[in-house]
Amino acid sequence: MRTCPPSHLLSAPTAAPLSDCPCPGADERPVVLTGDRPTGALHLGHYVGSLATRLALQDAGAHRLFVLIADTQALTDNMRDPARVSRCIEEVALDYLAVGLDPARSTLFVQSCVPELAELSMLMLNLVSVGRLERNPTIRAEIRLRGFERDVPAGFLVYPAAQAADIAAFRARFVPVGEDQLPMIEQTNELVSKLNAVCGSPVLVPCQALLSPIGRLPGVDGRGKMSKSQGNAIALAASPDDIRQAVQRMYTDPGHLRVSDPGQVEGNVVFSFLDAFDADKTELEALKAHYRRGGLGDMVLKRRLTERLIALCEPIRTRRLALERSPDYVREVLKAGCLAARAEAARTVSDVKRALGLPAY
Ligand code: TRP
Repeated sequence: MRTCPPSHLLSAPTAAPLSDCPCPGADERPVVLTGDRPTGALHLGHYVGSLATRLALQDAGAHRLFVLIADTQALTDNMRDPARVSRCIEEVALDYLAVGLDPARSTLFVQSCVPELAELSMLMLNLVSVGRLERNPTIRAEIRLRGFERDVPAGFLVYPAAQAADIAAFRARFVPVGEDQLPMIEQTNELVSKLNAVCGSPVLVPCQALLSPIGRLPGVDGRGKMSKSQGNAIALAASPDDIRQAVQRMYTDPGHLRVSDPGQVEGNVVFSFLDAFDADKTELEALKAHYRRGGLGDMVLKRRLTERLIALCEPIRTRRLALERSPDYVREVLKAGCLAARAEAARTVSDVKRALGLPAY
């Protein structure tokens, strides 16, 4: 399992096509790429939406996995407070390592440390209209949420093209993401096919979203999806006490007043969480039937969920605490990841530039 050393790719005279790197045994496995914005610690919504898929793919070993900490993208709506973004980069890296992403098998890197991504974004931006960017449903929703209607930062509006560059630069085939990212994947594929058409050859490859089988996790208040900014999240490295408190305040069925009352399972936050985190599906179905009939109290369910979440989060928390004592190790991981990622992206960007007839002085 080898890739070409970065020295071949970053500083080699470009007379020899870089994609024909002569390194023997280059890793031919299909690429999976995904990432997160560093705006806070990761939470259970991230776990359900994409981290669990990444771990499964990493463990199966049939793909090359790249995971990016999207700091440049986070700045598109945090440019007034860049310190917040930079502080969170290592927080997210700690979460990645604590949850089980393994730098020996996966490449963890930081978006701003791979300037080739910005270069590819600039080229791609010529192939998308402002109108098309404005029609992206995720962007529309985010503009509303952030109150950007009157004055949207240009960098924010165009971040789908930058995200397309993130994905295309690694020739990623699969992108594990939550549902809200589907419009980004669609726009990526539009840009990939337009750029390939201009290049006259399939320099870039189309990608496919890998959606979580569970769908989106609600917030503990049952309002919308779990999100740190909504204050309805449970951190991946939550302590047992945090978990107990969060589960305690979770919504159930407001019509289920007495234990003997029949209860509703659909839209019941505790059941949504059990669906996501309780591996014993037979017992879970029996509990649902009992709840619907009446005679099963919320406390029984909440106790069960608390146990399941502590079993998931406690090892993550313990590993994270240990890693927090080794900041140098975390930095080394990111440094090596950025180097490897840069080599990969540089190869694609130089292929694109060559196909466009741009010089390589
Ligand atoms: N937009 C993603 C999010 O908000 C983060 C992201 C940036 C990303 N670049 C990506 C995800 C490339 C997948 C692929 O979580």
